[in-house]
Amino acid sequence: MAICFYPPSPPQMENGLSGGVIAGISLGMALLVAVCIYCGFYKKKKVQAKILLSKTHEDLPLQVGISVEKSVEFSCEELAKATDDFSIGHKIGQGGFGSVYSAELRGKKAAIKKMDMRATREFLAELKVLTRVHHLNLVHLIGYCVEGSLFLVYEYIDNGNLSQHLHGTGWDPLSWSTRVQIALDSARGLEYIHEHTRRVYIHRDIKSANILIDKNFRAKVADFGLAKLAEVGGSTRLVGTFGYMPPEYAQYCGDISPKVDVYAFGVVLYELISAKEAIVKSDGSTAERKGLGSLFEEVLNKPDPREDLCKLIDPRLGHNYPLDSVLKMAQLAKACTQVNRQLRPGMRSVVVALMNLSSSIEPWDVGSLCENQALVNLRSSDSLEYSDESDQTLEGFHFSEMHESVVNVQV
Ligand SMILES: Nc1ncnc2c1ncn2[C@@H]1O[C@H](COP(=O)(O)OP(=O)(O)OP(=O)(O)O)[C@@H](O)[C@H]1O
Ligand SMILES: [Mg+2]
Repeated sequence: MAICFYPPSPPQMENGLSGGVIAGISLGMALLVAVCIYCGFYKKKKVQAKILLSKTHEDLPLQVGISVEKSVEFSCEELAKATDDFSIGHKIGQGGFGSVYSAELRGKKAAIKKMDMRATREFLAELKVLTRVHHLNLVHLIGYCVEGSLFLVYEYIDNGNLSQHLHGTGWDPLSWSTRVQIALDSARGLEYIHEHTRRVYIHRDIKSANILIDKNFRAKVADFGLAKLAEVGGSTRLVGTFGYMPPEYAQYCGDISPKVDVYAFGVVLYELISAKEAIVKSDGSTAERKGLGSLFEEVLNKPDPREDLCKLIDPRLGHNYPLDSVLKMAQLAKACTQVNRQLRPGMRSVVVALMNLSSSIEPWDVGSLCENQALVNLRSSDSLEYSDESDQTLEGFHFSEMHESVVNVQV
């Protein structure tokens, strides 16, 4: 190919350049072109080799054209080194999709989840999107590894999960104001994925074990996006956890809406109040079990539920709680867990209600975040009337924008 760049070779050109000089320039150009062509070819071969390498893994039907961003891709070697070959000492837990390990990666603490799924093209595309979702109240997916096994790399949240704080041993009891803050943080994380991401995400596995607590006792929703990944990754595991699934989920499995998460969130609110598991024994003597929601509803349906409600409150709170506030959270939980999903509030209304609850306990806390007088004036009774319409009427308060501006400080 380089030959065609040689000009015809007259002994002497009109511009006075000698045949030797012209031959030299031509040779130089030819060499340059040859080097460029070689480099292009070599690079292409390297990319193809990489794709072929990926294809050698039986379960990785990757197709040509998929590009994996370097910044979020880790090698298996790097992960193995950071976890002492996935040693038991690094293992922090086991979930429905695999084991979780703690690690020090590129100078930051991380949690690595080894997954039992296939890295299809759609799966990798989904992963890439998920790494770009940032919110203060969502556990961030830093990156992944698709060599051999599939690994997801998350930011490390260092103070356990809400289930451990409420039901585990060796943890100090959470104060009432901390519980309200945890509820508000998690509601904001959910509101974000329901209403502010480019497409609507439904978590589908909201539960206290998937709400992680950081060292300042602020909450982050974990495993966001896993439901979709499981779907495209060919996982056979049923997404969702018994005790948190709404009635329509069991009845019509394909009928999934954001109200699935609202229902599960309501159960988490009941857990925050009572520190009881999502499924409880109906009475001490029988093995019959029922949902936490029905236990609370029996009480909340009474004309004056206060006395019986006190019996359901986590004994570890002692008497250190404002009963009015507990009652409002219980009413919010009841609204969230209504059988008719149309009557459940949207997460935006839930956030509004919890902001009110939070401000009534610690006015200075919310006051510092709110410059919007409309928010400050909002009566808590207004925010406890829930319906899809109430979402509309609250539109004017611009909570989300305000909340975004707070959130963006960290991003
Ligand atoms: N980013 C993280 N930082 C710190 N700990 C984490 C992180 N992600 C998960 N964990 C912990 O690892 C353990 C296992 O988590 P995993 O999500 O696999 O299981 P799970 O939440 O119990 O169930 P599921 O698979 O239904 O989500 C839990 O104790 C969880 O708190
Ligand atoms: Mg989890």
